[in-house]
Amino acid sequence: MPKSSVKDLTPAQLRGRRVVVRVDFNVPFDETGAVSDDTRLRAAVPTIQLLRTHGARVVLLSHLGRPKAAPDPTFTLSGVLPALKAALPGVDVTFCATTDDAAAVAATNALTDGAVLLMENTRFLPGEEQNDDALSQRLAALGDLYVNDAFGSAHRAHASTAGITKHLRPAVAGLLMESELEYLGGALDEPKRPFVAILGGSKISGKIDVVEALLPKVDALLIGGAMACTFYKAMGFETGTSLVEPDRVDMAKELIERAGSLLIVPHDATVAKGMDQPKTAHAVKRDAIPAGEAMLDIGPDSAQSYARAILSAKTVLWNGPMGVFEKPPFDAGTRAVATAMAAATGKGAITIVGGGDSAAAVVEAGLGDMMSHVSTGGGASLEFLEGKELPGVAALDDKGTA
Ligand code: 3PG
Repeated sequence: MPKSSVKDLTPAQLRGRRVVVRVDFNVPFDETGAVSDDTRLRAAVPTIQLLRTHGARVVLLSHLGRPKAAPDPTFTLSGVLPALKAALPGVDVTFCATTDDAAAVAATNALTDGAVLLMENTRFLPGEEQNDDALSQRLAALGDLYVNDAFGSAHRAHASTAGITKHLRPAVAGLLMESELEYLGGALDEPKRPFVAILGGSKISGKIDVVEALLPKVDALLIGGAMACTFYKAMGFETGTSLVEPDRVDMAKELIERAGSLLIVPHDATVAKGMDQPKTAHAVKRDAIPAGEAMLDIGPDSAQSYARAILSAKTVLWNGPMGVFEKPPFDAGTRAVATAMAAATGKGAITIVGGGDSAAAVVEAGLGDMMSHVSTGGGASLEFLEGKELPGVAALDDKGTA
């Protein structure tokens, strides 16, 4: 069932009203304490600005990290404030060190039209992760209506993502949430064909449900990353010191048989004596991995043939790196996929990068703007692609009821 969006709200519903916006500001920091990747902050800006334009008073809720339901200076959201101010130049942005008490409510009531108030980390609050109803009610007191723009947290049934909607309505999707659902949902429901998916990462166990969900929908499913080695093992090849999941080999074998030509396992691999021995890197055919070496990237032939497949597709969906992309030269396969996807976008294909490592790789390669969509959700995009209902989405008003 499609969900109501912030675009469905009338100006009268917004002017002078306090709007609680759940965002996902769970961002990384560098050693100086500054935000090192502000993608998630910038992704929330369109919704914040839309609300401000209509004179709303914006109250931002987010978690950061995994504190233990108590204040912890390591995870204070005040660390995000400078980067948030930089993303909203000229906007009155302030921070409130409490989230669920009378002082917090008073701070929201003191806001002027168009002002933005960032509340402290929701995971400092006992009950947030349990979706506690009393806490949901206290969070609801921070606003007059609710917008969920935190796609990255939509797979969590927490008080600030789900329970709050029992007490605060309208409860609608933000622009980021809407576009995530449109792109990821569109790829799954009515992809333009050929539809090529690329799945990488270290473990087949973490991706098996996505593989199962995608197989009936794709024209080709290209495998990369260390999880290719579990497939190699299933094919009877030597895998050297590569990461293999022995308890998933039978499953990989069964998948290969069932998927037939839809599932493509890389034909060659870049191997080395270890991740920290880049000088020992060399390419081998997949049936010639030396006993003392590990596959750390897909090989150059596979990178080329994956690039060709991507360039001939009309929809491309990618989740998970092809190798140890943080350590050159084991980044070549991941870069080849990112570059081919950017070129495919230029040729009119819909290109979607699932969140997490592949999104980070694309951003680092400076190619983020050349994709149709780079998801801000790691776990959330995986669960969505697996076909699971996301509690943070399910909790919102159905279209036509806001
Ligand atoms: C993420 O970074 O994937 C989201 O912010 C969710 O974080 P969590 O896995 O700690 O719930």
